[in-house]
Amino acid sequence: SIARFTLDPAFTVGEVNPRLFGSFVEHLGRCVYTGIFEPTHPTADEAGIRQDVLDLVKELGVTAIRYPGGNFVSGYKWEDSVGPAEDRPRRLDLAWHSTESNRFGLSEYIAFLKKIGPQAEPMMAVNLGTRGVAEALELQEYANHPSGTALSDLRRGHGDKDPFGIRLWCLGNEMDGPWQTGHKTAEEYGRIAAETARAMRQLDPCVELVACGSSGQSMETFAEWEATVLKETYDLVDYISLHAYYEPVDDDVDSFLASAVDMESFIENVVATCDHVGARLKSKKKINLSFDEWNVWYLSRWQEQATTFEQDDWPEAPRLLEDNYSVTDAVVFGSLLIALLRHADRVTVACLAQLVNVIAPIMTEPGGPAWRQTTFFPFAQAAQYGRGQVLDVRVDSPTYETKKYGEADLLHATAVRAEDGTVTVFAVNRSRTESLPLEVALNGLDLTRVVEHSALADADPDARNTLDEPERVTPHPVEGAALTDGRLTAVLEPLSWNVIRLG
Ligand code: AHR
Repeated sequence: SIARFTLDPAFTVGEVNPRLFGSFVEHLGRCVYTGIFEPTHPTADEAGIRQDVLDLVKELGVTAIRYPGGNFVSGYKWEDSVGPAEDRPRRLDLAWHSTESNRFGLSEYIAFLKKIGPQAEPMMAVNLGTRGVAEALELQEYANHPSGTALSDLRRGHGDKDPFGIRLWCLGNEMDGPWQTGHKTAEEYGRIAAETARAMRQLDPCVELVACGSSGQSMETFAEWEATVLKETYDLVDYISLHAYYEPVDDDVDSFLASAVDMESFIENVVATCDHVGARLKSKKKINLSFDEWNVWYLSRWQEQATTFEQDDWPEAPRLLEDNYSVTDAVVFGSLLIALLRHADRVTVACLAQLVNVIAPIMTEPGGPAWRQTTFFPFAQAAQYGRGQVLDVRVDSPTYETKKYGEADLLHATAVRAEDGTVTVFAVNRSRTESLPLEVALNGLDLTRVVEHSALADADPDARNTLDEPERVTPHPVEGAALTDGRLTAVLEPLSWNVIRLG
C-alpha cells in the first residue's frame, strides 16, 4: 500500500531556527582531546585544532555548540580553563572518572567556533552542581564584559581583547538526575536557577537562558519537575531543556525504529507543561524548547563499561562512549531529526550530542585520519536543506506493530520550504523488508521537477563506517521519483532515510 500526504504553503508549522542544527562539545573521553584538539597531529594548526576535523565540522553544518558539558559542567571551575595553558591545573573529573588537563579551555573553545565560521555560535553552560550564582556571574563578566573591571581585564590580559559575546547560556545540566554532581530536587533547582537567571540578567538583560528540564521523559519526576522549575523561573528564562537518547532494547529493532514516536510525545508533553504554567501565571510569554542533547546512544554498553572502572585510575582522554553507528542507527537518527523539524515552532534550539568521537557523527584516530559516521549524512543534509518554513505534514501511512509504541506509521516525514520556494521532503521508511511507495499532493506550490532524490540505505542494515573502511556507507542517488500534475511520486527503499528536493 501507499503512503500519502499533502503539502500546502498555507499550512505551516513555523520557521526553522538555525539553532536547531546545534551540537555539543563536552570534556568527555576524546571529544576535545584527540578529537578537535590535538597539537601533535599532522593537520593541527598553531592552536592545536585538527584541520581534518574542522573541515568535517564545517561540512556537517553545525550552528550552536554547547560547551563544556554535560555532566562535566557540574564540577567545572571556569577559572581553571583560562590563562596560560602551562599554568592551568590538572583536576579530577568526577563525572567521567578522568583527569582533566585544562589544556583546552574557554578561549580555545571560542577560537574554535570562529574557525568554523559565522554560523557557529557559543552556548555556554554554568555550573549549578557544585557552584552557584557568584561563579556564574564571574564567568559571564570574564567572558562578556568589554573592559575596565578586574575580570574583563583579566580576559584581556590573557590575550582576548574582544569580549566573547556569549548570548545563550544553560543554567546547569541535568540537575534532576541522581548521577549529577550536586543533584537537586525541583524546588532546590528552581530556586538556584531563578536566582542565577535574575543575577545574569542584571549583568546583561539580553542573555538567553535555558533552564534544565528532565534528563528524559522516563524520569520519575518528569513533568512535575518542569512545572516546579518553571513556576520559579517563567519570567526569567527563555527555554527549558530536553534530553533524549535511544537504543534498541532486547534487540527490539522495530520499536527502536519508532523512537521518534517517543521523542515527539516528549516534545508535546513539555510544550503542554510550559503552557500550563504560563496559563496559571496568566502570562503572554511562551517558553521555547532547547532539545540540547539528542542522539542514538548505546547507553547500556556505557553503563557496563562504567562498572569496570578501577577506582585508582583517572585516565586522560580515554576512549568513552565511542559508539560506531550502523545504517539502522542512521535511519533512526534521521527520524529524530524529522521529529525536531516537525516541532520547529517550539523547538528553537537543539544540540546533537556530541560532535566528535563521543556518540558522534565524526570519528578520529589519534595521529591518524578523521571520518564520517553513518549519522553524519542525515544531519548534514538536514542542516543544508532544512532551512525555511516547515510545512504541516499529516501522513496517511501503512502501519506496523511495535512492542513499545503499539501501531506506528511506516512513513515518518516532514517538508521544509526555502525562501526561494523550493521544497525538501525528508522521509524515513521504517519497514525493514518492504519498499514504501510515496505520493505527495503539492497544492499551491510552484514546483515543476525533482531536483534530487538521495537515500541512505543498504542491503546490510548493520553496515557502518570504520577506520579501515571509512566510506563503506554514503547516501546514494535514487532514480524514479517524478513530479507530474502537482503530484510527487517516489519509492522509499526498505529501512531508508530519504531527501527529496523539489524545484
Ligand atoms: O552526552 C553524554 C551525557 O549524557 C552528558 O554529559 C549528560 O548531560 C547526559 O546524561
